[in-house]
Amino acid sequence: MADQFNYDNLFSANSREAPPGSVRHSKYDFAVAYPDPDNLPLEDLIESVRSGFEREGRDLAYYSSASGDPELRKLVAEKLTRERNMKVTADDMVLTSGSGEAIGILIQALTDPGDVVLVEEFVYLGTLNQMRRYGADVVGVKCDDDGIVPADLDSVITEQIAKGKKVKYLYTIPAFQNPMGWTMSLERRKQVLEVTGKHGIPIFEDDCYADLRFEGEDVTSFHSLDDTGRVVYAGSFSKIIAPGMRMGYLVAPKPVISRAWSFKSGGAVSQFTALTIAEFMKNGMQEHIEVQNQALMVKRDAMVAALGENFGSSVTWIVPQGGLYIWVKFPKGTDLNAVQEQVFEEGVSYYNGSQFSPTGEGSNYLRLCFGHPSTDTIREGIGELAKILEKIGTFSG
Ligand SMILES: Cc1ncc(COP(=O)(O)O)c(C=O)c1O
Repeated sequence: MADQFNYDNLFSANSREAPPGSVRHSKYDFAVAYPDPDNLPLEDLIESVRSGFEREGRDLAYYSSASGDPELRKLVAEKLTRERNMKVTADDMVLTSGSGEAIGILIQALTDPGDVVLVEEFVYLGTLNQMRRYGADVVGVKCDDDGIVPADLDSVITEQIAKGKKVKYLYTIPAFQNPMGWTMSLERRKQVLEVTGKHGIPIFEDDCYADLRFEGEDVTSFHSLDDTGRVVYAGSFSKIIAPGMRMGYLVAPKPVISRAWSFKSGGAVSQFTALTIAEFMKNGMQEHIEVQNQALMVKRDAMVAALGENFGSSVTWIVPQGGLYIWVKFPKGTDLNAVQEQVFEEGVSYYNGSQFSPTGEGSNYLRLCFGHPSTDTIREGIGELAKILEKIGTFSG
């Protein structure tokens, strides 16, 4: 074989070695936040492609509008107005490759190295990684079952300002938080708005799980509680259709959108996907969400029951009213990080709390996702998890 060309001296100072990861799956996979492949609306999506293309397929000959398909933006704006009480139009948003891209470009637009950014004490790993990548000093705020604790938020901000730090924004996942599963109450949302308002700090609301409610009353969005443009909002089709669609959106005041947009690479999102989703939104998406949520509730119940049967009273968990996760707390001192690889080798995967923590604390917690596995797999797998943890001495039932 010919000698291979060497790029080593050519890489930019900013580039990092980050090979596209291949996800490892175990027999009982409670780590991945995927939907159940058996619940995907494939027939409806095929029909959506057909009808969309019959009407507008020839327009694929052109590059689409920079902000993404105007019709899909209009449909999303109507949905947000109807369901999240947001006063927005198609012009207030840009379509992105999943909400991950929305988060990434907003972080880049608002973060200089050393800036303090606030997050819930355990937070979605993808956001945490992106914040770290752009040099943010990520600081966690205490939470309880109702969401962010306002008094802690206030003292964290005051402390950071006293240290001479610039606190740029609060990132929050208020509905079916990843990984903790709770939904922030209305009262808390108002208090969080008040505390951040007092310090002149904007809120970045990541609402990607809002549609996955299978129980209880909806809580209105942060965005709807503010009329000053202080709340920036991201949403996604990953959790209501499929992550493979790679479609999300960022809603923000124009100057913020325009700065964030400048970090977007590759131009507008796929018009193929946008057209398909717009058709699906008009024909069947709401019904699909309802069916999917029913299935998620059955799985949540199966996981809660299995936890009850297999773990003693020293282990506790939050029962979520929607979303994909159960957040389980083991006694202080339990190290679920140290045994994660061994448990994986024995057939069960999870993420432990330290992976979601800005400080790396919390290895006595684990996040179990009930979206992807079947109810049988959930029942068996939680039993297996208890057996393995008992066998290796991490837990005694
Ligand atoms: C809270 C949160 N935000 C954003 C994302 C990113 O999702 P996507 O880029 O697929 O929209 C995820 C994915 O799990 C998530 O949990």
